[in-house]
Amino acid sequence: MKNTVSTLLAQKQSGDKITMLTAYDYSTAKLMDACGINTILVGDSLGMVMLGYENTLPVTMEDMIHHTKAVTRGAKNAFVIADMPFMSYQVSVTEAVQNAGRLIKETNAQAVKLEGGAAVCEQIRAITNASIPVVAHIGMTPQSVNVFGGFKVQGKEYGRAEQIIQDALDVQEAGACMVVLECVPAEIAAIITRLLSIPTIGIGAGAECDGQVLVYQDMLGIFSDFTPKFAKRFADVGSVMQAGFQAYIEETKNGKFPQKEHTFKVDADIVSRLRAQFKVEG
Ligand code: KIV
Repeated sequence: MKNTVSTLLAQKQSGDKITMLTAYDYSTAKLMDACGINTILVGDSLGMVMLGYENTLPVTMEDMIHHTKAVTRGAKNAFVIADMPFMSYQVSVTEAVQNAGRLIKETNAQAVKLEGGAAVCEQIRAITNASIPVVAHIGMTPQSVNVFGGFKVQGKEYGRAEQIIQDALDVQEAGACMVVLECVPAEIAAIITRLLSIPTIGIGAGAECDGQVLVYQDMLGIFSDFTPKFAKRFADVGSVMQAGFQAYIEETKNGKFPQKEHTFKVDADIVSRLRAQFKVEG
């Protein structure tokens, strides 16, 4: 069954946890979809885990469109959310609506996500009014890394916690259909989850959120540049990949690969005629 804004809302209401993972390509999306993931986020984290940038700031609309198109081809049932990259929605409300429209029209995603609270409520309202579901993202918002001075937990002090709770209420009021809470103390995320009628999705925000999201390279042990505290490793796929690459290199060098079963046949007669014509000894 296709996941939609309504089915995700029903999950919050019934207490059925919402599962979300990031994906950036067709094959990964297809695997996740087959496992029954509720939603796939094509995050601008692709700048780091797919493209090797230091942070998400250099990611472009073209990058997002390219990867989201691949994901939606692989995701039959998952609700696909495309991240709006840095500077695609901050400059003006008009530009925000245009770029959100491009993401939906060109990629077949079901929703867009953008970072910020009160500061981007006008954009959330306008995009929602254009019939595009918006997922908000508050707390530690990676596109503001230069303002925060690093990827730091947000909401440990009373004033900042109060601001994050207000942001959550504001984005809901502006029309957001879901909200991602990143790197927020669990107790603050729990207050927000109880206050809101829309689902909260946590990443480093504790167990009381309505759902969880992780970057798939983190949870599979593929990305090793750094591991955030919240990123539980569910499998060590990085080691399995390295073992596979190593075996391939060894077998190619020592002639064990390829074997007969990996090669194609041709009539012996054709081969001898070609050898004679090009004077190649057999
Ligand atoms: O870009 C991303 O992957 C995200 C998640 C970390 C929530 O925004």
